[in-house]
Amino acid sequence: MNYRHAYHAGNFADVAKHVALVAVLEHLKRKDKGFVVIDTHAGRGLYDLLGAEAIKTSEALAGIERIRRLKGHLPEALATYLELVRATGDSKYPGSPLIAAQLLRPQDRLVAIEKHPEEAEVLSNALASYTRQQVLEADGYDRLTMLLPPRERRGVILVDPPFEAVDEFRIVARTVVAAHRRFATGIYMVWYPIKSVARAESFCGELLTSGADSLVRVEISRDEPGEGMRAAGLLVINPPFGFAKQMVAIGENLRAPLAAQLRVNWLSGGP
Ligand SMILES: C[S@@+](CC[C@H](N)C(=O)[O-])C[C@H]1O[C@@H](n2cnc3c(N)ncnc32)[C@H](O)[C@@H]1O
Repeated sequence: MNYRHAYHAGNFADVAKHVALVAVLEHLKRKDKGFVVIDTHAGRGLYDLLGAEAIKTSEALAGIERIRRLKGHLPEALATYLELVRATGDSKYPGSPLIAAQLLRPQDRLVAIEKHPEEAEVLSNALASYTRQQVLEADGYDRLTMLLPPRERRGVILVDPPFEAVDEFRIVARTVVAAHRRFATGIYMVWYPIKSVARAESFCGELLTSGADSLVRVEISRDEPGEGMRAAGLLVINPPFGFAKQMVAIGENLRAPLAAQLRVNWLSGGP
């Protein structure tokens, strides 16, 4: 477990993933009934963009720092995401559990799982002032199945692993397929890096074996040359109504400032 998200926090892929998360949470909040957010690989929750790790890669400079002050008429999820980021403070960046914690209502709850002990401790501190949240220092893959189906029977599961292990794509696919069997109506957001198009395609194929009849893929790729990851994707099982269209509009707003293209396509089902 060498991966530390502090090197990558706020990069172009984080922006796309976190705006998508906000879009899903805003949709879930349209009904009064409570829901659960399960973040299987939660990270530390709060990132210092002036810290040594962030400075070393400068990834946030080509990501959140290009849009932090974006104004004008923006899609709702993008506007909310930017408000949350700005409220976190200059040179700070909120990770997925902190974004979720800030958007939850009293009837909702967050389960944030993080395996690395130091990251889990920082996460517990970052979430200390929020109620309705639980931080588990545990293996996200093992723990997920135990948490399903949730008592609320409504919710979103974010699976955002480091993809360090050679067989991590296979483990993720197997875990999500098993989770979907236990909780077929849940919304699943599964992040993956695109280093090999063939690998990404076969991963999408494996997730289709879950039998999910509604599956949308959001991919973001950078136009500019540079070091590091060039593209990433998010597979969303049971996307909320209107989510795909919303992501297209968000992509249009991010296109120029991030110099990145966001593509949305249905792998199963449709609008
Ligand atoms: C990509 S980062 C998560 C970023 C976070 N979801 C966000 O968007 O802000 C992946 C995290 O997973 C943690 N991790 C690695 N293996 C894990 C496992 N088996 N179970 C839970 N967490 C794990 C790493 O320590 C790292 O903090």
